[in-house]
Amino acid sequence: MLEDLAKAYGKSGLAIARDYQGWDLFSAAPYESSTHGGRYVHNYSSEPAYGRFEEAGVMPVGAMMAKDSFTVSAKGEVEIGPLFIMEKMASGFNPQSNDWRYTMVMPDGSIFGQTMGKASDQMQFCADCHLATETDSLFFMPEEARAK
Ligand code: HEC
Repeated sequence: MLEDLAKAYGKSGLAIARDYQGWDLFSAAPYESSTHGGRYVHNYSSEPAYGRFEEAGVMPVGAMMAKDSFTVSAKGEVEIGPLFIMEKMASGFNPQSNDWRYTMVMPDGSIFGQTMGKASDQMQFCADCHLATETDSLFFMPEEARAK
């Protein structure tokens, strides 16, 4: 399953899509995310401070978050969903996204959009929702989904 996800996203050629499964996994098990299409997701981060959750503070430049996703049909068939990525860029990168670069990689490896890159305006909805937090645009995850 994880290998299938890695293979699908890896077709994008993005280093994050290739590397994220080697980062720390902060979700205890896949959990259903209504805000990401009602799919099952895992939360990975390159930044150990993410594991302090609400106490994490402002993420350092270069911090990366990845959330892979899948759905399971009534027949039990797994269908891969998009890979959701956040990267903390240098100060001034884009005030409208709090200097986070949002990227969405489709299951066929194509890039749907990227903040300040391809279809940037179609990615603003990611930032608009994430900006609602007071914790550097990070929502973390429901408590019951957190790895201890
Ligand atoms: C309507 C609100 C909403 C939208 C739109 C949204 N997110 Fe999120 N995002 C959340 C919430 C809530 C969480 C944490 C809980 C969860 O996973 O469901 C989260 C978590 C994340 C995380 C893990 C880091 C964190 O915040 O803890 C990443 C990465 C992420 N989202 C990327 C994206 C990308 C990329 C998009 C746009 C394609 C996007 N999100 C759109 C609400 C949203």
